[in-house]
Amino acid sequence: MVIKSANDLFVRLLSEVNSAEKQITRALPKLARAADDDKLADAFKEHLEETRGQVERLERVADTISDIRIKRIKCYAMESLIEESQELIDSAEKGAVLDAGLIGAAQKVEHYEIAAYGTLCAMAEQLGYTEAKDILAETLEEEKATDDKLSKLAQQNVNKKAG
Ligand SMILES: [Fe+2]
Repeated sequence: MVIKSANDLFVRLLSEVNSAEKQITRALPKLARAADDDKLADAFKEHLEETRGQVERLERVADTISDIRIKRIKCYAMESLIEESQELIDSAEKGAVLDAGLIGAAQKVEHYEIAAYGTLCAMAEQLGYTEAKDILAETLEEEKATDDKLSKLAQQNVNKKAG
């Protein structure tokens, strides 16, 4: 795909994050199974539901703009982040230490997504895609809320180990 305009770049980034979300959908059940803490496992399951909604939102974003179609490309950054989390799962026993690692891995994913959706929101605004921008902003807020939730779970996990 040749990128000649800001619009082309927008489509490219939208397609990339679509690939990222789909990969996350497949990875979250593995994270949930690897989690020892029930609250952490629940957080991963809840985010799986949210992520499914986010994939649908990306389709809606594309539908609001004429002549835009999400392309089939692979997000290599997400592939690597997920590979890292799998290696972590394979090399640690279930427990608070692995939970800390899982939270860290999930937060790397969230930060990637916060950056990706932040850029998409800014580009949608510049390109005058107001409706698309509002839909993308909803997902951006969800990603930020998930990141905050993970930070709180990390704190509780540390306290649990200390106590
Ligand atoms: Fe997401």
